[in-house]
Amino acid sequence: MTTVFESVSAWRLQRRKQTQARQTLGFVPTMGALHAGHLSLVQRSRAENDLTLVSIFVNPTQFDDRTDLANYPRVLEADLAALRTAGADFVIVPGDGDLYADRYRYRVTETEVSATLEGAQRPGHFDGVLTVVLKLLHLAGAERAYFGEKDWQQLVLVRGMVDAFFVPTEIVACPTVREADGLALSSRNRRLPPADRALAPRFHAVLASARTAEAARRELQAAGFGVDYVEDRDGRRLGAVRLGGVRLIDNVVLGGATCS
Ligand code: PAJ
Repeated sequence: MTTVFESVSAWRLQRRKQTQARQTLGFVPTMGALHAGHLSLVQRSRAENDLTLVSIFVNPTQFDDRTDLANYPRVLEADLAALRTAGADFVIVPGDGDLYADRYRYRVTETEVSATLEGAQRPGHFDGVLTVVLKLLHLAGAERAYFGEKDWQQLVLVRGMVDAFFVPTEIVACPTVREADGLALSSRNRRLPPADRALAPRFHAVLASARTAEAARRELQAAGFGVDYVEDRDGRRLGAVRLGGVRLIDNVVLGGATCS
């Protein structure tokens, strides 16, 4: 059975009871519009914990673009149905006022990594991500929290924050779930018109096969992508591209090894 909480205080009471009963909790933070990538995190959490909590919150502070925030898919009923089928025990759907009673006067800023790559393209994005993740980790009170490697820079920054602030939750990285043609699952894929959807798998293929980041950038441009960046870092190749109005990000392990 899946229990839905709309209030932070009701959840915290519930979590106190679970802790007294020594039940471990795994936590999966999301912005909804769930697909098999999100559900793979839920499955991993279920395998490693007594109970699993999922949050659904479209976090306004991490959107640098108002239209992007307005266009973000909101499909709560479908998400709850998917989470029931996946066997999540609890879902929390907080309101803006629950998470931002301080009106975002308090925020977490990382000053190096967050200014590069995604952060260079989207000013303030990682302040919003780190701030909401810190709030969510504290209110979840979980032993473990599950993040996708698809958002590699986010994963690195969340890990760093948890270390820096001694947050007592282990961050577990989960491999990117892809379509059969290699395209990483993303809620944005549904906005790709058919011609762009047909081209989109080239993004992953080129990241994985090009000899250098510069060669990948050239190949993607020649194929018709707008390239925001391709960069090799810490044994990974990270990229962001645009197809029409849709922005896609992905990353691969250099040398083709897999990582979990
Ligand atoms: P969202 O984009 O909803 O993603 C929630 C989690 O699902 C993230 O950890 C993300 O990396 C993971 N995920 C997305 N697509 C995936 C895929 N194809 N394979 C595996 N995992 C995938 O990331 C966010 O929300 C937000 O920034 C959040 C952390 C919730 C803070 O607001």
